[in-house]
Amino acid sequence: MVSYKTLGLVNTRDMFARAINGGYAIPAFNFNNMEQLQAIIKASSELKSPVILQVSKGARNYANQTLLRYMAEGAVQYAKELGCNHPEIALHLDHGDSFELCKSCVDMGFSSVMIDGSSLPYDENVALTKKVVDYAHQYDVTVEGELGVLAGVEDEVVAEESHYTKPEEVIDFTSKTGVDSLAISIGTSHGAYKFKPEQCTRDPKTGRLVPPPLAFDVLDEIMKKLPGFPIVLHGSSSVPQEYVDMINKYGGKLPDAVGIPEEQLRKAAKSAVCKINIDSDSRLAFTAAVRKVFVEKPAEFDPRKYCGPARDLMEEMYKHKIIDVLGSDNKLAQ
Ligand code: G3H
Ligand code: 13P
Ligand code: ZN
Repeated sequence: MVSYKTLGLVNTRDMFARAINGGYAIPAFNFNNMEQLQAIIKASSELKSPVILQVSKGARNYANQTLLRYMAEGAVQYAKELGCNHPEIALHLDHGDSFELCKSCVDMGFSSVMIDGSSLPYDENVALTKKVVDYAHQYDVTVEGELGVLAGVEDEVVAEESHYTKPEEVIDFTSKTGVDSLAISIGTSHGAYKFKPEQCTRDPKTGRLVPPPLAFDVLDEIMKKLPGFPIVLHGSSSVPQEYVDMINKYGGKLPDAVGIPEEQLRKAAKSAVCKINIDSDSRLAFTAAVRKVFVEKPAEFDPRKYCGPARDLMEEMYKHKIIDVLGSDNKLAQ
């Protein structure tokens, strides 16, 4: 058993309380490799932002869970080297799908876990989530639960259709389970194809897809039922057109990729939404930068020469999210 506290990590309780009161959101960025982690830590440390490092089941399979945990421990030291004397870094399991997986993360030093029982019948979601909470809280590890289903296809997260969170369930769910935060479904979805073209309109000038707005009325209802309770938005990449264009220009094929407009995320960040999950935008920035080098410098074969520019572009993207979308810059407690 390793406590995250001995690794210099923090749970999400305090950062969420401050974010709700301050009208901003904490960035939750997924990482699978060293370059993503470096870019996240550089961006959050230089901007003095709390940050949540998210590890999905797919990331654990790709990179090895032990290695990822040690990388997060190293990230705390790296943040200090960058001049951030009191970093607030949470290590969070993204979309945990079983008690055993959540327990293993708690036991190895994660400071926060998500138990995603959103595809289960309601009562089973409650029972599983409560079991994880009861275990995690013994070690002061915070727990995120989910109600409602996000559409989207990722390696490990698959759902054909989205179902908005039912506001009438949220009080019962949070009080029965004791979760610290609640992920909800209000129209976001995972991946770079968040909406089908038939769900969107087209901008007559650019020909680009314009996605339907998020269901802020559902969010409002939820906030009325749970005043001041930390709400989480998954599937919140905005799929920046400049990266999609860059990928397509340099030989990629991402037709009609579409994300959540940043002004809607900004609006959400000012409410009780205090954690915003972003993964796909990092994948897009990485891929765009690598493709550019491959096309412009076909003789290049040193991975540092294409992973380096990818890291730089991700850092720029993370900084933009922190400052212009989430508003979490200069929000460290000390
Ligand atoms: O919510 C899903 C995350 O983007 C993780 O995706 O399962 O492909 O690692 P992944
Ligand atoms: P995106 O695919 O929109 O980046 O969502 C990531 C996410 O929700 C991770 O849990
Ligand atoms: Zn997610």
